[in-house]
Amino acid sequence: MCGIVGYIGSQDAYSILIEGLKKLEYRGYDSAGVALVNGSRLEVIKAKGELEQLENKVGAKFPNGSTGIGHTRWATHGAPSDVNAHPHCCCSGDFAVVHNGIIENYRFIREWMEEAGHKFQSETDTEVLAHLIKHFYNGDLLGSVQQALAQVEGSFALVAVARGKNDQMVCARKDSPLIIGLGKNENFVASDVPAILQYTRRIYILEDGEAARVTKDVVEVFSPEGKGVSKEVFHIDWDAVQAEKGGHPHFMIKEIMEQPHALRETMRGRLLEEGRKIDLSELNLTDEEIASTRRVFIVACGTSYHAGLVGKYAMERALRLPVEVDLASEFRYRDPLLDESSLVIVISQSGETADTLAALRLVRGKGVRVLAITNVVGSSVAREADKVLYTWAGPEIAVASTKAYITQLLALYLITLHMGRVRGAMDASALEEGGRAIFRLPEKVENVLGRERELKRFSAYLSRWENAFFIGRNMDFAVALEGALKLKEISYIHAEAYASGELKHGTLALIVEGIPVVALVTQKALQDKSLSNIKEVKARGGYVFCLAQEGMQGLEEELDEVFYLPATLDFLLPVISVVPLQLISYQAAVERGCPVDKPRNLAKSVTVE
Ligand code: F6R
Repeated sequence: MCGIVGYIGSQDAYSILIEGLKKLEYRGYDSAGVALVNGSRLEVIKAKGELEQLENKVGAKFPNGSTGIGHTRWATHGAPSDVNAHPHCCCSGDFAVVHNGIIENYRFIREWMEEAGHKFQSETDTEVLAHLIKHFYNGDLLGSVQQALAQVEGSFALVAVARGKNDQMVCARKDSPLIIGLGKNENFVASDVPAILQYTRRIYILEDGEAARVTKDVVEVFSPEGKGVSKEVFHIDWDAVQAEKGGHPHFMIKEIMEQPHALRETMRGRLLEEGRKIDLSELNLTDEEIASTRRVFIVACGTSYHAGLVGKYAMERALRLPVEVDLASEFRYRDPLLDESSLVIVISQSGETADTLAALRLVRGKGVRVLAITNVVGSSVAREADKVLYTWAGPEIAVASTKAYITQLLALYLITLHMGRVRGAMDASALEEGGRAIFRLPEKVENVLGRERELKRFSAYLSRWENAFFIGRNMDFAVALEGALKLKEISYIHAEAYASGELKHGTLALIVEGIPVVALVTQKALQDKSLSNIKEVKARGGYVFCLAQEGMQGLEEELDEVFYLPATLDFLLPVISVVPLQLISYQAAVERGCPVDKPRNLAKSVTVE
């Protein structure tokens, strides 16, 4: 998720671009850059680091021009660096492009362009766009952008400018948001509203496949077929703070709502043909390496550790391979029994967690392979691991992890299917069934998000208690642990997660009249066993809110509240069942007036032991 701004008018574009980018820094902040068109000059300035670094580099001598584009980057392809920062240019420096999204077939296009004599400077997927535009250019910027985009597979929101063309910029989108701000004798393009809110509240929202030619007086929008589209003007009435959060009151709820998108981005290019085919060749794990693996270790902290617990159940069930899951802070001091047949998977959203990084170094020091699952390109974990599988959740700002967790689960499922195929542990029909079910997860998450209101009654009840319990068996237990952590960290309600069968070994003593108990019953094979544990709780006065899978009807007769989750394969249910748990934690924390995005005593990235 990167931030994009474009300006065309009669003012000094540089200051407007910088102000706009400042409002978008929450979308990504590892590097930034601008390109200004000034007659026959196209000046590009880029810098690694936060926007301030770019401003320092520019100093007091602002580049001239009243047409320009700017970008703040959240790295996907290529580590954060000056050269990988946007805008990207073709080799002649005639065209500059800023882009948000992922060009899936960039390797193929890069080879094609290189054979045609183009010289590349960066490691990014975006740079191919600038060379393609140059390749197709015959005097019409819009036409060459459209021809370039016709070659591209993947997602994009982009803006392009050309040397000598002060009078226009061209923008287009597919699966990545882009808006056009309408001013007086000036117009704007941005990936998100906050960038332009101080200049205009009138916008066009570009739809997928649309492209536009933007001059200072006119905005022409075209359909994918090249026909002119008459757009409706949309009026923004959010205030500036709301706008950064996409109209939501907190980053956490914004990020919860982004989960279907985060899942789609993470499966993009990896799960093909609606799930029938899986391509994880990016891992560079040879078939030999996969086949010779005798034991998997998953190492992480906090929410990422909880994702690892789900991964254990999925992998052991599908691969019949022993999987150990460790807290990184424990793993590093327990002298783990590793050898060359071990595969260690470290999971870290930030890629900077000190304990996870130390565990990774320890493993590599013993000559054992490490595969990292991380959300941050160029992070320490990504740089030091042997192989990396990125989650494409976009920047996670709220301290409580939500969209990173769900994409970590997805990454673990993809690895499971990939290893299952290579090891012959899953036959073709099991692989296809799994892949197709994974492909449909985003819409099932959307279903739960759309029923947010149904959870409010229980959240209000929960918010009045100081203690709560989460119970479940197997994968449901792993998700219960994550549910309890979410509730604790943002609402300050003391919550404990227990394996349902374990309650009677001590914890039942804590069940008192009315105490909230969140019970997960999503695994069909364990339904009856879980229900008898729930009855033990009910018999002692607990108030039971149950998450069950569609098709397990009739539970509401015995329990206080039941929320039915859309059905899928049992082993994929954690992706769906965690969503109501995130929502009830969020709703209860808001009800209690807690600072949801920045809970006390916590930091987003824990870089100390
Ligand atoms: C909880 C949370 C933390 C992190 C943990 C590990 O909501 O966010 O428990 O999961 O600090 O962080 P990463 O994944 O960045 O290594």
